[in-house]
Amino acid sequence: VGQCRSYHEKVIDHYEKPRNVGSFPKNNPNVGTGLVGAPACGDVMKLQIMVDPETGKIMDVAFKTFGCGSAIASSSLATEKIKGLTIWEASKIKNTEIAKELALPPVKLHCSMLAEDAIKSAVKDWEAKRKSAGAAPLNEI
Ligand code: FES
Ligand code: FES
Repeated sequence: VGQCRSYHEKVIDHYEKPRNVGSFPKNNPNVGTGLVGAPACGDVMKLQIMVDPETGKIMDVAFKTFGCGSAIASSSLATEKIKGLTIWEASKIKNTEIAKELALPPVKLHCSMLAEDAIKSAVKDWEAKRKSAGAAPLNEI
């Protein structure tokens, strides 16, 4: 019980003091926006990344989640994890890592899936924006 209890505290901590809540202007060329919904419950997560166009490094992250406590904790933890990573590293983050760190029960796994999907969708949006602006694609470093 001791261990579960401390994991629960991690969820509560992120839920009560979510990190990186906010949003960036969608039309900023360096911003990628991921907006995803969970079909299972209708919860929605918006996650935005501010990317250095030279290196593909994620300089800043912002999120807004309209969802359950586990979804809020998952997105808060996800923003902490991806800040400072490259877009390629961030795209490799798996919901299972997030779920494990927060000790989410099986019925709450889809909440952490929202965070994984939101990261991937933000990266895709950034890449698409860059492409439509005519910039050369960045190569993974
Ligand atoms: Fe043990 Fe939640 S405190 S599962
Ligand atoms: Fe659906 Fe958590 S995101 S219950």
